[in-house]
Amino acid sequence: MQQLTAIVTGASEGLGKSFAIELAGRNMNLMLVALPASGLPELASFIRKNFAVTVYHLEIDLTHTESYTEIFAWLKEQRITAHLLINNAGLGNWSWFEDKNIAFYKMQIELNVITPVLLTRLFLAQADASVTSYILNVGSLGGLFLVPKKQVYGATKSFIRYFTKCLQLELYGSNVKLSLLSPGGINTKPELLVMNNTLKGISKATILEPEQVARIAIDGLLKGKKEIIPGAVNRFLVLLNSLLPAYIKDNIIKRRLNTILVS
Ligand SMILES: NC(=O)c1ccc[n+]([C@@H]2O[C@H](COP(=O)([O-])OP(=O)(O)OC[C@H]3O[C@@H](n4cnc5c(N)ncnc54)[C@H](OP(=O)(O)O)[C@@H]3O)[C@@H](O)[C@H]2O)c1
Repeated sequence: MQQLTAIVTGASEGLGKSFAIELAGRNMNLMLVALPASGLPELASFIRKNFAVTVYHLEIDLTHTESYTEIFAWLKEQRITAHLLINNAGLGNWSWFEDKNIAFYKMQIELNVITPVLLTRLFLAQADASVTSYILNVGSLGGLFLVPKKQVYGATKSFIRYFTKCLQLELYGSNVKLSLLSPGGINTKPELLVMNNTLKGISKATILEPEQVARIAIDGLLKGKKEIIPGAVNRFLVLLNSLLPAYIKDNIIKRRLNTILVS
């Protein structure tokens, strides 16, 4: 059977790293993309040593539009067609709107919105229509719920949600499977682990490990699931969100906001 090649953006750390290891474990070749000096060569060599797959890596800044074509130009030069695209790279925040500067929001919007849209466009242009191709767009439950202190982040993830759902309709009947991953909190880095450890009850139950999320996401993607929401508690919260009237949700958010303001 032909060995597939997957592009993973933001592969050096967190969920992206777990995606890379998960895909290698499923015998897929990899093109890993992340910022320079982020430990990508070390991850690539770890995967080569432990799995029988070919691993390429490209250290580029995905907020520079001209870098997107570099990925596909390089693959074309090597006569490699990518079969999977994991649009994972993303920048989060947990801060009041006025506490971050213009440069931060510009970078966040570029990385979370412009990058996945343009990479999807370039990926589709090189896809081989005779075999199934797969795209996974990493959204967030933050794109569905109104979360204070995640104003721009949540909006970028709402964008990804809308973009993915529309494109799914356009690609209906084609040989491309496109999935939206909508995770809740993930313990991807030490500061999140510390913050998540302070949570209690249902909030704590929404948090998952990156390896779990990557496994569930790739299972769902290969099965052609339209939206993947890892964790039963998270799926229950999404259902509740669709059932509760807006005024109850507003009250919950206002109470939550008060808790944040006094803490
Ligand atoms: N963690 C969560 O709780 C959570 C929840 C829901 C959704 N998500 C989504 O899941 C995805 C991964 O999140 P994460 O927590 O794993 O993030 P992370 O640990 O911060 O990793 C982000 C990855 O993106 C790379 N990256 C950042 N800026 C880049 C740039 N300009 N060009 C190229 N690569 C860049 C980083 O490289 P460097 O190592 O060089 O910085 C890193 O590999 C994001 O889309 C995020 O929104 C996360």
